Amino acid sequence: MITSLRHAWRQSPVGLRRLLARSGAPYALSYILNYRKSHRIENFAGNLEQLNAAYREGSDDVKAEIRRQFDRIVDGLVMPNGVKKTTYSDRLSHLIAEILTAVRLPQQELRVLDLPSSAGAPSLQISELLQENYRITSYVLGDLYHCILHDARRCCIFDEHGNLLQVAFRKFYFSIYKGHKCGDQYTFISTCLLLPHSIAAWCLKKLYRFDPGAECRRLLVVHPEVEQHLGRGIYHLEVMDIFQPIPDNYDVILSFNLLQKNYFPPAVIAAGIANLASSLTEGGLLVLGDTDSFWALQKQDGSLITRLRKGDF
Ligand SMILES: C[S@@+](CC[C@H](N)C(=O)[O-])C[C@H]1O[C@@H](n2cnc3c(N)ncnc32)[C@H](O)[C@@H]1O
Repeated sequence: MITSLRHAWRQSPVGLRRLLARSGAPYALSYILNYRKSHRIENFAGNLEQLNAAYREGSDDVKAEIRRQFDRIVDGLVMPNGVKKTTYSDRLSHLIAEILTAVRLPQQELRVLDLPSSAGAPSLQISELLQENYRITSYVLGDLYHCILHDARRCCIFDEHGNLLQVAFRKFYFSIYKGHKCGDQYTFISTCLLLPHSIAAWCLKKLYRFDPGAECRRLLVVHPEVEQHLGRGIYHLEVMDIFQPIPDNYDVILSFNLLQKNYFPPAVIAAGIANLASSLTEGGLLVLGDTDSFWALQKQDGSLITRLRKGDF
């Protein structure tokens, strides 16, 4: 059924597709139709603990399968502000390589901030690319949510502020947040179509309140390969909010797949960009983007100058 719907969608006239897309109905329908498949119990975030232990001892084949499962788990984690933790290796390398070919930095030694880094899978490749021409003295993986809490007895996942994120059932798990709080997908029609989800989420939040006295395990949402590098060398985790003052200054700041209109309104995005810019050193490079497009800016005499732009980011 999903395949025939997809086919009908592709065959329909472009104008009609645009109109429908703007209604939010395709987003809501695809969310409903894919729910069971994308919320299979294997992808419940509570599995992260065993997964990381198995990774340490696994063969290369086992490790490759665990990496795939890890990416699916991270893709299923939606935080209370509607942002998904989705990330995966090689997601951004082609864009960074293109920028580094075109833009030269005056500094030889770089302090890099990757905000948000999520689990950090692309960060290892990005730092390798940078190290072809520069020396990295520190690479900070910044994110608002590096940890989650697993209440194994009640099969729930909370964030560190006690917000319920997921509840596991026998064959699938329920995600309290859907992602996308803003933008084209978030319309009256999509809100109506997804009303049963909102009601279920409301009921589950009442049923599974955070209990500060309960035994919860704190799980780090960091890619197993990245975890091996933490605590030694250049990589550090830091909890940071892109909209709050950033304590240090950086020569390179990368911000992919966060400051975009499906998550935040334009004025909030502009405030986030200004905040990042204020932590950029003179001559430093700020790159904003998503998976297909980017905007690379360099600080000159205190102002941001566009150096390279691809797509409509
Ligand atoms: C879609 S992931 C992007 C990760 C990575 N940059 C990439 O492109 O693969 C978005 C990340 O933003 C983080 N996030 C959400 N709100 C944030 C905020 N206000 N400040 C910093 N990070 C935030 C989420 O925890 C999540 O890890």
